[in-house]
Amino acid sequence: MDLSEKILELKKEKNAVILAHYYVDEDVQKIADYIGDSFYLSKVATKVDADRIVFCGVEFMGESAKVLNPNKRVFMPDATADCPMAHMATVEEIEKVKAEYEDVAVVCYINSTAELKTYADVCVTSSNAVNIVRKLPNKNIFFIPDRNLGSYVAKQVPEKNIILNSGCCPRHVAIKEDMVIAAKKKYPDAKFAAHPECTEDVLAHADYVGSTSGIIDYVVKTDAKEFIIGTVDGVFAEIQKQAPGKKLYTVKPEQVCVNMKKVTLEKVLDVLENETNEVFVEKDLAEASMKPLEKMLALG
Ligand code: 13P
Ligand code: SF4
Repeated sequence: MDLSEKILELKKEKNAVILAHYYVDEDVQKIADYIGDSFYLSKVATKVDADRIVFCGVEFMGESAKVLNPNKRVFMPDATADCPMAHMATVEEIEKVKAEYEDVAVVCYINSTAELKTYADVCVTSSNAVNIVRKLPNKNIFFIPDRNLGSYVAKQVPEKNIILNSGCCPRHVAIKEDMVIAAKKKYPDAKFAAHPECTEDVLAHADYVGSTSGIIDYVVKTDAKEFIIGTVDGVFAEIQKQAPGKKLYTVKPEQVCVNMKKVTLEKVLDVLENETNEVFVEKDLAEASMKPLEKMLALG
């Protein structure tokens, strides 16, 4: 029996469900019950009917799944797989902005720690941030931690005063404008689809901007045959499954999320077998961070 077969057998035996983000390796995506972007996975996490959730992603994803499902056991294949951006805002910064503006909503990208979420009015993901910010009654929005998603939202919702934080995704900001220009020159017939975690100058060249699921849908449904992809290349697997004829190019040679890459089949099997790396979120922290997550699910 190979690794994947062992995982599938053990998953049944333990009544576990496997969730995977599009950025994990293709072999891991293949054994997942649900693959998706952050919003889809957080919705799925509230609906699954299993005792255990194995979350193939980074820490904030497993943590959010646990917060939304306090009675289920959630496991992470690699306990060190963390998103650096999740830590790129501080309580001091939030308190300073709140003191400065009377009418301000703190909007927290789901790529954040549970502690940061407790200071938020609502959480968002890249697929619902524009809609949710538009629906908020407040004129002033403090958007944490991603300055690039924040500035993308500010452009789409000009009626709001968006106050930006300084965080960013090290993977997406490494995609530079000159690289995009060079890729477009090399592949003149290709459309360019990018994630809103890319910088504003890069997004200015995009034919489409959206979440990982949005990018996949755009490529699959658009008539063009060639696409330059401005996000982590883990999305290629799903595109190739749905539209095998499309030619896909990265902007630069390495477009990987090193933390998502830590998730392997061996580690998935290990957490199923030995029940290691269980996610625990302290009760008060869980209750306080659940509120903005639930508000996101209600508004999104
Ligand atoms: P999505 O919500 O688009 O899947 O993005 C998650 C992420 O971490 C992007 O870097
Ligand atoms: Fe975090 Fe960037 Fe990896 Fe997404 S790609 S999980 S934002 S480090």
